[in-house]
Amino acid sequence: MASACIKVNKRDAQDAKNALIKAGLLDPDRDPMHDGDSVLFPVQDGADATLKKIMRCPFNTIDGACPASQKKRRGNLADLLARELPGELAQCVPRAFNIIGTIAILDIDDQLAPFKEAIARAIREIHPHLTSVFSKQSERAGDFRTSRLDLLWGSDDPVTRHVESGCRFLVDVREAFFDPRLVHEHARAIESIRAACDGTGTSNVADLFCGVGPFIVPLAKDPRISAWAVDLNPRAIELLGENIKENHIDVTRVHSHLMDARTFLERFDLDGGACPREFDAIILNLPRSAHEYLGACKPRTKVGTTLFWYTIAREFFEGKEAPGDDPAAIQERLRGLSVHGDANPVSEACVKGLGAVKALGFSIARITRVKPFSPYRYTYCFELVA
Ligand SMILES: C[S@@+](CC[C@H](N)C(=O)[O-])C[C@H]1O[C@@H](n2cnc3c(N)ncnc32)[C@H](O)[C@@H]1O
Repeated sequence: MASACIKVNKRDAQDAKNALIKAGLLDPDRDPMHDGDSVLFPVQDGADATLKKIMRCPFNTIDGACPASQKKRRGNLADLLARELPGELAQCVPRAFNIIGTIAILDIDDQLAPFKEAIARAIREIHPHLTSVFSKQSERAGDFRTSRLDLLWGSDDPVTRHVESGCRFLVDVREAFFDPRLVHEHARAIESIRAACDGTGTSNVADLFCGVGPFIVPLAKDPRISAWAVDLNPRAIELLGENIKENHIDVTRVHSHLMDARTFLERFDLDGGACPREFDAIILNLPRSAHEYLGACKPRTKVGTTLFWYTIAREFFEGKEAPGDDPAAIQERLRGLSVHGDANPVSEACVKGLGAVKALGFSIARITRVKPFSPYRYTYCFELVA
């Protein structure tokens, strides 16, 4: 196991963590730790040269300080349940589950229903801070992209506080979308938008499908950024308002709108004329249908506007990131991969979007594989430049 750590002032901790994650240097087998006004992050051994290039804040390298990950020490769910479950059911135990604040959410196979209590007990053994364990009863559905959740153990309160990107978020796991597996993608996009401000000085950013604010709240903490946030879900916009206050952000720099994203894009008169005609960055994180909004974004762009377009496609390159390419070439590659008779409209989201990218004259600057969507398919972020 690696033993190196870096020590940074706690005020720089979030930026340091984002930089380490982006460079793939954070060691997942050990936990970060606090030491007075400093935070220590475990890093991969032999990373000294890269650290000097990527770290923007002062840091010291020390050896052997960060402890082995608590999660690893306590074992995984399957190990803990091995003695309680009949052998043939052991393989149905979920390998992963989501933790949002003090709530765990897991997807359990129907066959495991009689063992729900044992499963909830084992999860609490791994994560003693939990107050509730919910089981997912449906896939995400509807405009609001929420799932039906049943309480397995604990308090039937779906509201919790979650920390991400150095901000505190109130999340309602039943009523508004939040996915903790997007943590690295949120951090990556935030860092990229902030870095672009280094050149231009200020930035007008629109998040068209903002949810409770995991992109826009950390962005709005940067005084150079003016933020426009849009969502159809009243609960998401309500929590966004709470999250702006919770993170002591100047409310005058975050303009939130409970409305359809297309209506927002078509309205140039919002906020008493304060809303810019053209944005510097536009975030479109609604992977199944964001491609349908690219055309409406065009009049709100200028030369150099970056669009973070999230979409779903079959796996079409190896690794985490690919450089920009011609949209027609990617379309052709994806068409070549599509399975004959694949009637799932999701498979077409990216291909159709690439057609719009081509027609609108946007170029593709970078493609990031964000997370698995279903077997052979991934959510991708295409960074488009107008
Ligand atoms: C996949 S979630 C992303 C939320 C947030 N960006 C995040 O990363 O957690 C998509 C969000 O879009 C909202 N939404 C769906 N259709 C919309 C529309 N036509 N206009 C505005 N928001 C919409 C949903 O309510 C949901 O909060």
